[in-house]
Amino acid sequence: MQIATHRSPGFPDQKPGTSGLRKKTRVFLTPGYLENFVQAILDATGGAGGRTYVLGGDGRYFNDRAVQVILRMAAANGAARVIVGRGGILSTPAASNLIRQRATDGGIILSASHNPGGIDEDFGIKFNTPNGGPAPESVTEAIFARARETGEFRILETQDIDLDSLGETTLGGMTVEVVDPVAGYAALMETLFDFAAIRAMFAAGFTMRFDAMHAVTGPYATDILEGRLGAAPGTVINGTPLPDFGGGHPDPNPTWAATLMDEMMGPDAPDFGAASDGDGDRNMIVGRGCYVSPSDSLAVLAEHAAVAPGYARGLAGVARSMPTSAAADRVAQALGIPAFETPTGWKFFGNLLDAGRATICGEESFGTGSDHVREKDGLWAVLLWLNILAATGKPVAQLLADHWARFGRTYYSRHDFEAVDKALADALVGDLRAALPGLPGREVAGMTVATADDFAYTDPVDGSTSAQQGIRVVFADGSRFVLRLSGTGTEGATLRLYLERYEPDPARQAQEVQAALAPVIAAAEEIAGIAARTGRTAPDVVT
Ligand code: G1P
Ligand code: ZN
Repeated sequence: MQIATHRSPGFPDQKPGTSGLRKKTRVFLTPGYLENFVQAILDATGGAGGRTYVLGGDGRYFNDRAVQVILRMAAANGAARVIVGRGGILSTPAASNLIRQRATDGGIILSASHNPGGIDEDFGIKFNTPNGGPAPESVTEAIFARARETGEFRILETQDIDLDSLGETTLGGMTVEVVDPVAGYAALMETLFDFAAIRAMFAAGFTMRFDAMHAVTGPYATDILEGRLGAAPGTVINGTPLPDFGGGHPDPNPTWAATLMDEMMGPDAPDFGAASDGDGDRNMIVGRGCYVSPSDSLAVLAEHAAVAPGYARGLAGVARSMPTSAAADRVAQALGIPAFETPTGWKFFGNLLDAGRATICGEESFGTGSDHVREKDGLWAVLLWLNILAATGKPVAQLLADHWARFGRTYYSRHDFEAVDKALADALVGDLRAALPGLPGREVAGMTVATADDFAYTDPVDGSTSAQQGIRVVFADGSRFVLRLSGTGTEGATLRLYLERYEPDPARQAQEVQAALAPVIAAAEEIAGIAARTGRTAPDVVT
């Protein structure tokens, strides 16, 4: 077997975003494009010589080819071992778990998460560090610096490796170890949750629907829910992973998981519904006739986590991304534990989790997780909910109502405006940023602006700073809106408008969400002018 060294021009667009490098699949099909980025990962993290990595992806179009290329490059660069999920498949949380359990030097995960898959859709790649978490900005910047330079990449010239049989083979001087993608992850879940109690609940007739959206969690959910926990066959729907996710958009929210939502709001709804995304790190939770917003889900999970054996010792702290609602902060206060507010993106939770300062973390974007891995984890959230339902015996709607009665309700919604002209979006955000100093004291839509700033974060563990992480405008009554540009989109710009209003009075907690937020929506339009400036009169996605 020969090692071939190829010249690479470098690619100036290989800057990782909120979660790794995401591009249209056809961009990744550009000759040398994937290879250049992989070589940059290896070079920028000290070289692959003697190292062990985890490798796998969500099974989307090009996953299979990319895995073969990365294995040959790892071998050509002197790696000692690559642990790869059978068929090149690993959910993001399962990959994070393997990186940690096997004490590896990191891992490469192939996914564009919740973005659609296919030759005309999206592909992505990201590097996770030995703690199992997404590389921090210092690392992604080093990768980008290397990726945009002219350089070389090395690859072993050889046949494809068989990734369908478990066990070890050699590739050049490197060991390729094919592992069951589900087993280690499922074993970890058994240590965290009271499987016996959840099994008893299913045996007593509890019903559930889990929509795997033809994405990577299908095999995990089938094994754990129907296999280990005894949920009825058919509990998991769309459970076969497909390279194009069946033509769907594997994003578990009310818009894209509409079939599940319809069933859960219908007359024959099961007791509990959930969905997960392309790579298995997101979750949506729905009760019978009752949608749980991700911010509320985080708060309820934090409130009741101690019923699960893995969290019985209590939580060290709760962390949420800045645009996520403050509901979890109120729980943290009641529990007497710290609440942290970080920029958007799971990588910002890594230091808090490593330092033992936060146990449970969450984002409004359907991401929740804990210190069991260093990624958000869709099935983990589903299992913690199941554990809480089993321990309390209360239906989802009751848990939510009790939570609001005790802590108040935070009405919350996110409005996404997708594929907006990038220059227009940049100008809109730039102008708003420039207007911030003049906003406090201004009367808008019957409310007074209290504070207005651009969120900047100083990591309490390592002191690193991140500026311009989202513009927030807070009103005197505590309502607020946040505006930021997506760092994961692949087409034009996506404007995300986050809206929030706190309602402590139980008598006023049953309003329709958009109606309850109407003043904040009006104020955001008056101040930021999204409709006026982009011509978009309604958001593309409302969550
Ligand atoms: C989005 C979400 C963010 C999440 C990320 C990866 O990023 O908003 O919370 O961590 O996807 O799943 P964005 O596109 O907003 O940069
Ligand atoms: Zn994801």
